[in-house]
Amino acid sequence: MPGDDHPATHLQYLPSMTSDYSRISDTAKAIDPFIKPALLSYLASLPLSSAGRQLGSPFVIADYGAADGVNSSQLLEQIIRFLRQAHPLLGIRLVYIDIADPAPFHHFWKNSGLSGLPRVEAEYLQRSFYEPLPELAGNVDIGISSTSLHWLNTKTVDTTFFYHPTCIQANQLPAAERKKFYSKWISDWRVFFRERSRDLAHGGMLYLATLTDLGGDRWPASAGYNNLREVCVSLYQEGRISKQELDAIFIPDYFATPDEIASLVAEESISQHFSLKSLKTLTVPCAYSSRMQNAGNDARKRHYLAYSLARVVRAWSESSIRVGLSRDNEGLIDEIYRRLAERFFERPEGLPYQYCLMELLRKNTPVGIEGFGPGMGTGAFQT
Ligand SMILES: C[S@@+](CC[C@H](N)C(=O)[O-])C[C@H]1O[C@@H](n2cnc3c(N)ncnc32)[C@H](O)[C@@H]1O
Repeated sequence: MPGDDHPATHLQYLPSMTSDYSRISDTAKAIDPFIKPALLSYLASLPLSSAGRQLGSPFVIADYGAADGVNSSQLLEQIIRFLRQAHPLLGIRLVYIDIADPAPFHHFWKNSGLSGLPRVEAEYLQRSFYEPLPELAGNVDIGISSTSLHWLNTKTVDTTFFYHPTCIQANQLPAAERKKFYSKWISDWRVFFRERSRDLAHGGMLYLATLTDLGGDRWPASAGYNNLREVCVSLYQEGRISKQELDAIFIPDYFATPDEIASLVAEESISQHFSLKSLKTLTVPCAYSSRMQNAGNDARKRHYLAYSLARVVRAWSESSIRVGLSRDNEGLIDEIYRRLAERFFERPEGLPYQYCLMELLRKNTPVGIEGFGPGMGTGAFQT
């Protein structure tokens, strides 16, 4: 019987997005106006002609967890136009980092307004932001990461780390069970900051717009995760998926609270490299349900909204759900998201995103006193 099959334990959770992610992520895109002022005011303060910048070396902007590059493109274009007002001849190097297949990025770049700008070059590194990126060493002037850092590093644990009998995401768990994900998040972020301290030029800015848990049900897209869990449980109860599959369906992300984030970046291992300039939280309303607020009993509009919300959830969860399902049950994917849309239709709920916005500056640490805090790896490194 197909449902008795074991999940694809040979597969690793690889949280990449569906190909329509940038067309169905208006809520994530709505964060731009909150990021832009901080970046422009940082740029305005920069003495780009100073001795620190080697003659002819490009201004480097890295986007960590960029997906296909579409969602950051307007922001990057605004940064470049701003820079060019004061420094018309400045070369710009854009570096996109993501674990996902590079083909969607190359498609985007070929047709993008950015690639038409003079003296702008781009490269895509198909890598994890939890791994060293030696080609960036000390060269990044601005690092940004938006809506990406909640993904845990799935490469450092066995797949079974994420198995759970009833829940499909860490923030659904009671405090005691959530602890192991919190600990993993801490060690992943320590590594993230260690790597960024290697990438960023002294004085460079790291801007993080990361999804966060504001308490209660105020964690990003909570209704989407909760409905998805109910759909999977109902498929199990109907005998359509096995117990092993239900256990293995898990989305490997963790939404830390602002307090958890603030306390981590204050640790010596991070604060010796970065000074925290600001940390703010905000809730971005669900772009899709906000547009449909007056839908009322208009079934056609409610139907459209329900399917849009299911597509939003599918964009970031499908790759993980596939790991949980056995090969024989791959065909259930469409059924899962059809049922999810039905749930949104019966009980329309928006998917707001809660963010923690952080501006950090790379400290000008003299060579020789660079080091690592506890559990941060081996040896000192030169910058
Ligand atoms: C929700 S998308 C965000 C994309 C874009 N930054 C935005 O604001 O819309 C998260 C991205 O993070 C990428 N990602 C997840 N884990 C990663 C990792 N360890 N290293 C690099 N990219 C990762 C995913 O492939 C995905 O493209």
